[in-house]
Amino acid sequence: MQTSFFDANNTAPKKSYRAIRHDIVRERQSSNCESAHHPEEKKQQVKRVLSEHSGWGDLSILELFAGHGNLTKLYCDYGEVLAYEKKGAVFDKLVSNTQDCMLLRCEKVDSYREYHGLIYLKQSFDVIDIDPYGFPNRFFPDIFLLINHGILFVTMPKPYVNILNGITQTHLITYYGDHNPSQETIINRIALWGLSHWRQVSLIDSIDLDSVWRFAFEVKRVKATDYTGVKNR
Ligand SMILES: C[S@@+](CC[C@H](N)C(=O)[O-])C[C@H]1O[C@@H](n2cnc3c(N)ncnc32)[C@H](O)[C@@H]1O
Repeated sequence: MQTSFFDANNTAPKKSYRAIRHDIVRERQSSNCESAHHPEEKKQQVKRVLSEHSGWGDLSILELFAGHGNLTKLYCDYGEVLAYEKKGAVFDKLVSNTQDCMLLRCEKVDSYREYHGLIYLKQSFDVIDIDPYGFPNRFFPDIFLLINHGILFVTMPKPYVNILNGITQTHLITYYGDHNPSQETIINRIALWGLSHWRQVSLIDSIDLDSVWRFAFEVKRVKATDYTGVKNR
């Protein structure tokens, strides 16, 4: 069915252009359309960033939004992977697409809840990938408890190209102090959240994928005394 811009009398627009574009993006996302997922750009970035860290040996990787397994298959080349996907039909696809992968565990869970369990179990990973459709803010700051020294990949919707209703605006204010935070505000805030758990966080790679950014951060645990130059007596 084609989406109409106009009401029955063909006078006032029924939906704004941005609202229609938003619906189209949602539809493309749920059908795993490449123009919405940017699979090649994401893979190139992962290869670029991890190739610089290949000296680490086998990595331990947590992928919180695995989808159909586009990145999961690539991550399996770098080490042991724990991949989460919540949606039943997508999870089944993930399992069948990755059946040749060794050292992979796929779990059908809600990542927003499950990651608290990993923290409780004192797990840690070399690489964490957060690639949701919406904002990843609910993982901060505590996701940093799962990395001592490693890489955090984060997909971040650009606030200004999205339709921000009152709930989203309030959500963004609570996390960034701004209903429409800039890229710089977001990156600085993520770095500050890292420091709240004594992780030094630096942006090492960033790609622009139409309506979202994909950031790669290097995360290093620091000693509070060294970082601040304050000596404990
Ligand atoms: C942007 S896609 C992931 C794409 C994947 N990283 C790739 O490169 O192909 C987001 C995925 O997260 C899943 N998802 C949504 N909410 C979730 C949740 N709470 N926990 C885990 N997975 C979830 C969706 O079903 C969807 O497959």
